[in-house]
Amino acid sequence: MPALGVNIDHVATIRQARRTIEPDPVWAAALAELGGADGITIHLREDRRHIIDRDVRLLKDTVQVKLNLEMAAEEEIIGIALETRPDQCTLVPEKREEITTEGGLDVLGQNERIGTACRRLQDAGMEVSLFIDPVAQQITAAAELGADAVELHTGAYADAVTAEDTEREFESLVTAAEATRAAGLVLHMGHGLTYRNVSRVAAIPGICEFNIGHSIVSRAVLVGLERAVREMKALVE
Ligand code: PXP
Repeated sequence: MPALGVNIDHVATIRQARRTIEPDPVWAAALAELGGADGITIHLREDRRHIIDRDVRLLKDTVQVKLNLEMAAEEEIIGIALETRPDQCTLVPEKREEITTEGGLDVLGQNERIGTACRRLQDAGMEVSLFIDPVAQQITAAAELGADAVELHTGAYADAVTAEDTEREFESLVTAAEATRAAGLVLHMGHGLTYRNVSRVAAIPGICEFNIGHSIVSRAVLVGLERAVREMKALVE
């Protein structure tokens, strides 16, 4: 059965909208664990738009399940990972102007840079996963470079609008999943998955881990809103 890593970045996005102390992603991580999360995923972006350094430190101390740090292969962030030592680092591409991680890593084109980051993190005892598009050459490059796992980018499948495009992107995931297992890499999947589109992907054999964030946090806001309003109403009355 695949594990569920819950990405709590967008709890921190709400906090950072006011630069205040709530909602605290550390609390969110504890609640996600109570709900059955097998892992907590956070992305420490270079611009600190959601998760901040303090979150990484506190979550390292408090998370009881697997802590997965998504990160760019940049010196400052590698330094923080080496110091904090999450269980797993997922290397992702990062552009300041993007709204979210837009494409997979170019492991082929940036072999040396990614390989060096990967080895440094592994030498310090962390597992390294590479976030890549479901493309055969990238999977081969990830295996050659010595990564422990790859996370296949499910965004193109999730964003497909027509039935034809959805089918094509789903088939790419199936083929890439097979290639990942054949290359001896641990198979993760994530990005853009929702309550509607996840089941089909979850039926693909051999997936060890999903990382899902936006859809879970979005639902949490709505399913929790009625109770939150009742509690405030009781106070104002
Ligand atoms: N996996 C990776 C590598 C990501 O960068 C993200 C987004 O931070 C996710 C999974 C989660 O994506 P979503 O928030 O769309 O579920």
